[in-house]
Amino acid sequence: MIKNWLENIKKVKSIKKLEETRIAIIGKNGELTKEFSKMKLLPNEEKKDVAKILNEQKQTINDAISKKYELLKMLETERVLKKQKIDIGRYNTTATTASLHPVTTTMDKITTYFANLNFKIEMGPVVEDEFHNFEALNLPKHHPARDMQDTFYCEDEKLLRTHTSPVQIRTMMTQKPPIRMIAPGQVFRRDFDITHTPMFTQVEGLVVQQDEIVSFANLKFTMEKFLKYMFGDVKIRFRPSFFPFTEPSAEVDISCIFCKSKGCQVCSRTGWLEVLGCGIVDQNVFKAVGYKDCSGYAFGLGVERFAMLLHEISDLRSLFESDIRLLGQFR
Ligand code: PHE
Repeated sequence: MIKNWLENIKKVKSIKKLEETRIAIIGKNGELTKEFSKMKLLPNEEKKDVAKILNEQKQTINDAISKKYELLKMLETERVLKKQKIDIGRYNTTATTASLHPVTTTMDKITTYFANLNFKIEMGPVVEDEFHNFEALNLPKHHPARDMQDTFYCEDEKLLRTHTSPVQIRTMMTQKPPIRMIAPGQVFRRDFDITHTPMFTQVEGLVVQQDEIVSFANLKFTMEKFLKYMFGDVKIRFRPSFFPFTEPSAEVDISCIFCKSKGCQVCSRTGWLEVLGCGIVDQNVFKAVGYKDCSGYAFGLGVERFAMLLHEISDLRSLFESDIRLLGQFR
């Protein structure tokens, strides 16, 4: 019998089955337990020997069960560990990675370009005063050109800057020429439709030399190189324009990158896309900051517009809605 029991224990493949087998042998009504009760019927002189044998058998069974239990437990742990094994080389297709916003990457591209040309990056406050935002830029009070920029006014004659040109004023008032700077940052205007948002991002640039002529040719060369870097092989044209702080002034267009100048919705069938404003710094601006015998050029552009053109985004507002279905495409 003991042989059979040990054989059964050996065959068992799960902890549950092992417990069943244990009960069947040494449980309350187990086969070996029954042998113990049968002892009552034996003559007294035999009882001792039989008891010894039965106890030894019980011990053997208990040992075998314990050993088997340990073995099964180990196999179980191994099985669980195998299941939990992590293949760190495997690509998780469900995980999402964050991505930089197209305005950020476009801004990086622009600022890196100019930084490489030795333009210093200058910053200024977002809450400005009339002097830096308007007056020093040749926009005196009641000048009609102030209407071009619908301004958010705050308390204490403060306002949200309508462009980053005030940073140019602040830089010139604290540093001597020559100046070679760009001013990236957020600006604010009371405007909200398909092509305008109340807050947007600008990069403006300024180059100033003392006792040397900075010409329109210098400006044109720099803008052309820059726009070819940003948009590739496009045609570029300068259109006469007006800004109070530059004279002469120009708006710069590139040939439409969507229809290759054939005329489409994006370029309003003109074949051209306006991308920046620029000009030769008006002498009144130098007067306001106390610069003498200086000449220079300035330019300004909207980063969102560049991002839209580079990524073929049609609605400016989608750049501000943080919809990850859109942003996820720029990973
Ligand atoms: N400040 C102008 C704007 O915000 C851009 C500009 C900058 C134009 C410098 C000419 C020269 O629209």
